[in-house]
Amino acid sequence: MTAAEQLAANSAAALASCELRLREALDDGGPRVTDPALTTLAAGGKRVRVLLVLSCAGQRVEPTPNAVRAAAAVELVHMATLVHDDLLDGATMRRGRETVASAAGPDAAVRVGDFIFARAFRELTDAGSPVAVRLLAHAASELSLGELAQGRAAFDAELTLDRYLARVRQKTASLFEASCRIGALIGGASQAEQDEVGAFGAAIGMAFQIFDDILDITGDSTTMGKRRGADLRDGTITLPMILALQDPGDLPELLRGRLGDDDVEAVCERLAAHPATARAREYALDYVASARAHLEDAIEVADTEALLALADGVVDRYS
Ligand code: IPE
Ligand code: IPE
Ligand code: MG
Ligand code: MG
Repeated sequence: MTAAEQLAANSAAALASCELRLREALDDGGPRVTDPALTTLAAGGKRVRVLLVLSCAGQRVEPTPNAVRAAAAVELVHMATLVHDDLLDGATMRRGRETVASAAGPDAAVRVGDFIFARAFRELTDAGSPVAVRLLAHAASELSLGELAQGRAAFDAELTLDRYLARVRQKTASLFEASCRIGALIGGASQAEQDEVGAFGAAIGMAFQIFDDILDITGDSTTMGKRRGADLRDGTITLPMILALQDPGDLPELLRGRLGDDDVEAVCERLAAHPATARAREYALDYVASARAHLEDAIEVADTEALLALADGVVDRYS
């Protein structure tokens, strides 16, 4: 059993409470929104952000109702963005099933994503912390700006490393950071501790997205539950590509052009074996190391061991 699987097993009761809240939060919207939202929920997902909230609150075993609400709210924002992201990315598969956009069309994906998003904020409002609502609203706004920046830079082979990292910060690390800050806040941590776990979350989020970008090239579609090569197909330039574009050979030329569906598999294979992908992995590992360093200061409320296991889980996912 990996560290993350062990953690999930040890947190089974709290995770089950969150699942119940997630289902209740999506209740009562009628067949056009509640049904597809519940289907996306039931399809699974790793619940990494849920575990971050609970671990930072120090309530991974017996969470208070407010911690459960906060964890559910963060997961719902994440789910809403996945439904919209799959529409924007033209993705057909998510969590091993057909995406809402592919199964029910673009209008349905907009409606379902909006519904989940609204329910996320209703959920967090009920937890009674305006500061937590502000933190989640900030992350959601950063996320949408990150997706916007990504769309604008589609097929731009001149995308710089700095712009790529800024986008990852916005679209992924912001929600990881908010998960940790909200958890610590709900758990009653000091401001200094909230800042430390927030920095931990941001760094883990950076690593998580870089590994996700690598997996999009090297991964197995069945294990990932989503189709590999999605980034090459929709023109999303990611770290392995940015690094490979700087090398000699004919790969940069291929990456600069628009790839047909048949070429994508072959380019994935070549990129997977390219030193650029190994270098991208080193970037991600550096973020994991910097995340871990944030847990070295005095942490009283957050469950440091659980957070370290989550950090290991981000790396294990790749191997
Ligand atoms: C997918 O997130 C989107 C990214 C930020 C890469 P997850 O990999 O956490 O998705 P689920 O929730 O497990 O399906
Ligand atoms: C993450 O980016 C999406 C969000 C943060 C909303 P990706 O587009 O890489 O996520 P996947 O690969 O579709 O899960
Ligand atoms: Mg996507
Ligand atoms: Mg991806």
